[in-house]
Amino acid sequence: MKRIVILLVAVVVLGACNHHQEKTQWDYMGAFDMYYSKAYESYSPNKYLPGGMTLQKAPEGTVARGKKPYPFKNKLADRKKAGEVLKNPMQPTKANLAKGKEMYERFCAICHGKDGKGMATADNNTLYKKKLYPIPPANLATETVKNYPDGEIFHVITMGSAIMGAHGSQIKPDDRWRIVLYIKNGFKVN
Ligand code: HEC
Repeated sequence: MKRIVILLVAVVVLGACNHHQEKTQWDYMGAFDMYYSKAYESYSPNKYLPGGMTLQKAPEGTVARGKKPYPFKNKLADRKKAGEVLKNPMQPTKANLAKGKEMYERFCAICHGKDGKGMATADNNTLYKKKLYPIPPANLATETVKNYPDGEIFHVITMGSAIMGAHGSQIKPDDRWRIVLYIKNGFKVN
Protein backbone atom coordinates (compact mmCIF):
# COMPACT_ATOMS: atom_id res chain seq x y z
CA MET A 1 0.00 0.00 0.00
CA LYS A 2 2.77 2.41 0.99
CA ARG A 3 4.55 1.70 -2.30
CA ILE A 4 1.45 2.41 -4.30
CA VAL A 5 0.99 5.77 -2.55
CA ILE A 6 4.64 6.71 -3.20
CA LEU A 7 4.26 5.66 -6.83
CA LEU A 8 1.09 7.68 -7.25
CA VAL A 9 2.68 10.77 -5.68
CA ALA A 10 5.72 10.33 -7.93
CA VAL A 11 3.52 10.09 -11.03
CA VAL A 12 1.61 13.20 -10.06
CA VAL A 13 4.72 15.22 -9.13
CA LEU A 14 6.80 14.13 -12.11
CA GLY A 15 3.84 14.63 -14.38
CA ALA A 16 4.26 18.33 -13.85
CA CYS A 17 7.85 18.21 -15.08
CA ASN A 18 8.22 19.81 -18.41
CA HIS A 19 11.02 18.78 -20.69
CA HIS A 20 9.52 20.54 -23.67
CA GLN A 21 9.19 23.98 -22.25
CA GLU A 22 7.27 25.44 -25.12
CA LYS A 23 4.15 23.62 -23.88
CA THR A 24 2.35 24.09 -20.55
CA GLN A 25 1.82 20.83 -18.72
CA TRP A 26 -0.91 19.91 -16.26
CA ASP A 27 -1.85 22.36 -13.61
CA TYR A 28 -3.81 21.16 -10.62
CA MET A 29 -5.14 24.38 -9.21
CA GLY A 30 -6.30 26.06 -12.38
CA ALA A 31 -9.92 25.96 -11.30
CA PHE A 32 -9.33 28.26 -8.33
CA ASP A 33 -10.11 31.92 -8.69
CA MET A 34 -7.13 34.28 -8.66
CA TYR A 35 -4.78 31.56 -9.86
CA TYR A 36 -4.68 33.52 -13.08
CA SER A 37 -5.25 37.20 -12.65
CA LYS A 38 -7.84 38.59 -15.03
CA ALA A 39 -6.26 41.97 -15.74
CA TYR A 40 -8.07 44.55 -17.82
CA GLU A 41 -6.13 46.11 -20.67
CA SER A 42 -5.84 49.91 -20.50
CA TYR A 43 -8.03 50.38 -23.56
CA SER A 44 -10.51 47.58 -22.91
CA PRO A 45 -14.16 48.27 -22.02
CA ASN A 46 -14.91 47.97 -18.33
CA LYS A 47 -18.42 47.74 -16.91
CA TYR A 48 -17.33 48.60 -13.35
CA LEU A 49 -15.67 51.95 -14.03
CA PRO A 50 -17.16 55.35 -14.98
CA GLY A 51 -17.73 55.80 -18.70
CA GLY A 52 -17.37 52.04 -19.26
CA MET A 53 -13.61 52.48 -19.81
CA THR A 54 -10.67 50.91 -17.97
CA LEU A 55 -8.28 53.82 -18.44
CA GLN A 56 -9.64 56.78 -16.48
CA LYS A 57 -8.86 60.42 -17.05
CA ALA A 58 -6.27 61.77 -14.58
CA PRO A 59 -7.84 63.97 -11.87
CA GLU A 60 -7.75 67.67 -12.55
CA GLY A 61 -4.46 69.28 -11.60
CA THR A 62 -2.47 66.08 -12.09
CA VAL A 63 1.11 66.77 -13.10
CA ALA A 64 2.97 64.17 -15.16
CA ARG A 65 6.21 62.97 -13.63
CA GLY A 66 9.13 65.14 -14.70
CA LYS A 67 6.82 67.78 -16.19
CA LYS A 68 6.25 71.30 -14.90
CA PRO A 69 2.89 72.95 -15.62
CA TYR A 70 3.18 75.93 -17.96
CA PRO A 71 2.35 78.97 -15.81
CA PHE A 72 1.21 81.43 -18.51
CA LYS A 73 -2.17 81.81 -20.19
CA ASN A 74 -2.99 82.75 -23.77
CA LYS A 75 -3.21 86.48 -23.02
CA LEU A 76 -1.08 89.36 -24.25
CA ALA A 77 0.02 90.30 -20.72
CA ASP A 78 1.13 86.71 -20.11
CA ARG A 79 2.96 86.64 -23.44
CA LYS A 80 4.98 89.70 -22.37
CA LYS A 81 5.59 88.20 -18.92
CA ALA A 82 6.83 84.95 -20.48
CA GLY A 83 9.24 87.04 -22.54
CA GLU A 84 10.66 88.55 -19.36
CA VAL A 85 10.79 85.42 -17.23
CA LEU A 86 11.61 82.50 -19.52
CA LYS A 87 15.19 81.98 -20.65
CA ASN A 88 16.25 79.86 -23.61
CA PRO A 89 18.14 76.85 -22.22
CA MET A 90 19.43 75.94 -25.71
CA GLN A 91 22.66 77.24 -27.21
CA PRO A 92 22.69 78.30 -30.89
CA THR A 93 24.94 75.43 -31.95
CA LYS A 94 24.78 74.09 -35.49
CA ALA A 95 23.03 70.93 -34.28
CA ASN A 96 20.36 72.92 -32.38
CA LEU A 97 19.77 75.25 -35.33
CA ALA A 98 19.49 72.29 -37.70
CA LYS A 99 16.93 70.65 -35.41
CA GLY A 100 15.12 73.99 -35.09
CA LYS A 101 14.95 74.23 -38.89
CA GLU A 102 13.64 70.67 -39.16
CA MET A 103 10.90 71.35 -36.59
CA TYR A 104 10.05 74.78 -38.02
CA GLU A 105 9.65 73.30 -41.47
CA ARG A 106 7.50 70.51 -40.09
CA PHE A 107 5.15 72.61 -37.93
CA CYS A 108 5.30 76.26 -38.99
CA ALA A 109 6.31 76.55 -42.66
CA ILE A 110 2.89 75.40 -43.86
CA CYS A 111 1.55 78.78 -42.71
CA HIS A 112 4.50 81.15 -42.32
CA GLY A 113 6.49 79.81 -45.31
CA LYS A 114 9.94 78.22 -45.30
CA ASP A 115 11.55 81.69 -45.31
CA GLY A 116 9.17 82.88 -42.56
CA LYS A 117 7.88 85.78 -44.62
CA GLY A 118 4.21 84.98 -44.10
CA MET A 119 2.09 86.55 -46.82
CA ALA A 120 5.18 87.67 -48.75
CA THR A 121 6.81 84.25 -48.74
CA ALA A 122 8.42 82.82 -51.86
CA ASP A 123 7.26 79.41 -50.65
CA ASN A 124 4.31 78.39 -52.84
CA ASN A 125 3.27 75.57 -50.54
CA THR A 126 1.66 77.60 -47.79
CA LEU A 127 -1.98 77.10 -46.93
CA TYR A 128 -2.64 80.80 -47.40
CA LYS A 129 -1.28 80.79 -50.97
CA LYS A 130 -3.30 77.73 -51.74
CA LYS A 131 -6.41 79.46 -50.38
CA LEU A 132 -6.85 76.79 -47.71
CA TYR A 133 -6.34 79.16 -44.77
CA PRO A 134 -8.00 82.57 -44.87
CA ILE A 135 -5.91 84.58 -42.40
CA PRO A 136 -2.60 86.10 -43.55
CA PRO A 137 0.05 84.56 -41.29
CA ALA A 138 2.47 86.96 -39.63
CA ASN A 139 5.82 87.73 -41.22
CA LEU A 140 8.44 86.25 -38.88
CA ALA A 141 11.46 87.41 -40.87
CA THR A 142 11.32 90.95 -39.48
CA GLU A 143 13.43 92.98 -37.08
CA THR A 144 10.39 93.15 -34.77
CA VAL A 145 10.24 89.39 -34.39
CA LYS A 146 14.05 89.17 -34.14
CA ASN A 147 13.86 91.59 -31.23
CA TYR A 148 11.18 89.69 -29.32
CA PRO A 149 12.69 88.02 -26.27
CA ASP A 150 13.12 84.26 -26.84
CA GLY A 151 10.52 83.53 -24.17
CA GLU A 152 7.87 85.51 -26.01
CA ILE A 153 8.24 83.44 -29.20
CA PHE A 154 8.38 80.30 -27.05
CA HIS A 155 5.11 81.43 -25.48
CA VAL A 156 3.44 81.97 -28.88
CA ILE A 157 4.48 78.47 -29.99
CA THR A 158 3.29 76.96 -26.71
CA MET A 159 -0.03 78.80 -26.27
CA GLY A 160 -0.76 80.28 -29.69
CA SER A 161 -1.42 83.94 -30.43
CA ALA A 162 -4.84 85.42 -31.18
CA ILE A 163 -5.90 83.39 -34.21
CA MET A 164 -2.83 81.11 -34.30
CA GLY A 165 -3.37 77.81 -32.50
CA ALA A 166 -1.23 76.43 -29.66
CA HIS A 167 1.53 73.99 -30.59
CA GLY A 168 2.59 73.10 -27.03
CA SER A 169 1.14 69.61 -27.17
CA GLN A 170 2.80 68.73 -30.49
CA ILE A 171 6.34 70.01 -29.98
CA LYS A 172 8.62 69.18 -27.02
CA PRO A 173 9.85 72.21 -25.03
CA ASP A 174 13.50 71.79 -26.11
CA ASP A 175 12.45 71.70 -29.75
CA ARG A 176 10.29 74.81 -29.26
CA TRP A 177 13.39 76.61 -27.96
CA ARG A 178 15.37 75.33 -30.97
CA ILE A 179 12.71 76.75 -33.32
CA VAL A 180 13.11 80.09 -31.52
CA LEU A 181 16.89 79.96 -32.14
CA TYR A 182 16.32 79.21 -35.82
CA ILE A 183 13.86 82.10 -36.28
CA LYS A 184 16.14 84.54 -34.47
CA ASN A 185 19.11 83.36 -36.50
CA GLY A 186 17.32 84.64 -39.62
CA PHE A 187 16.13 81.19 -40.81
CA LYS A 188 19.72 80.07 -41.27
CA VAL A 189 21.60 77.13 -39.79
CA ASN A 190 24.98 78.88 -39.54
C1 HEC B 1 -2.30 77.32 -39.20
C2 HEC B 1 -1.39 78.40 -39.48
C3 HEC B 1 -0.24 78.65 -38.55
C4 HEC B 1 0.70 77.77 -38.11
C5 HEC B 1 0.80 76.27 -38.36
C6 HEC B 1 1.63 78.54 -37.31
N1 HEC B 1 1.24 79.85 -37.27
FE1 HEC B 1 2.22 81.34 -36.32
N2 HEC B 1 0.73 82.62 -36.82
C7 HEC B 1 -0.32 82.33 -37.67
C8 HEC B 1 -1.13 83.52 -37.83
C9 HEC B 1 -2.38 83.61 -38.68
C10 HEC B 1 -0.53 84.52 -37.05
C11 HEC B 1 -1.03 85.93 -36.83
C12 HEC B 1 -1.85 85.78 -35.60
C13 HEC B 1 -2.40 86.98 -35.04
O1 HEC B 1 -1.65 87.97 -34.89
O2 HEC B 1 -3.57 86.92 -34.72
C14 HEC B 1 0.64 83.93 -36.42
C15 HEC B 1 1.48 84.58 -35.52
C16 HEC B 1 2.70 84.11 -35.10
C17 HEC B 1 3.66 84.84 -34.29
C18 HEC B 1 3.46 86.23 -33.71
C19 HEC B 1 4.02 87.25 -34.61
C20 HEC B 1 3.88 88.64 -34.03
O3 HEC B 1 4.57 89.53 -34.49
O4 HEC B 1 3.07 88.82 -33.11
C21 HEC B 1 4.73 84.03 -34.11
C22 HEC B 1 5.99 84.35 -33.33
C23 HEC B 1 4.44 82.78 -34.78
N3 HEC B 1 3.20 82.86 -35.37
C24 HEC B 1 5.29 81.71 -34.82
C25 HEC B 1 4.90 80.45 -35.28
C26 HEC B 1 5.74 79.27 -35.14
C27 HEC B 1 7.14 79.25 -34.57
C28 HEC B 1 5.01 78.22 -35.62
C29 HEC B 1 5.38 76.77 -35.62
C30 HEC B 1 5.61 76.18 -34.35
C31 HEC B 1 3.73 78.76 -36.09
N4 HEC B 1 3.72 80.11 -35.87
C32 HEC B 1 2.75 77.99 -36.69
C33 HEC B 1 -0.58 81.13 -38.27
C34 HEC B 1 0.11 79.95 -38.03
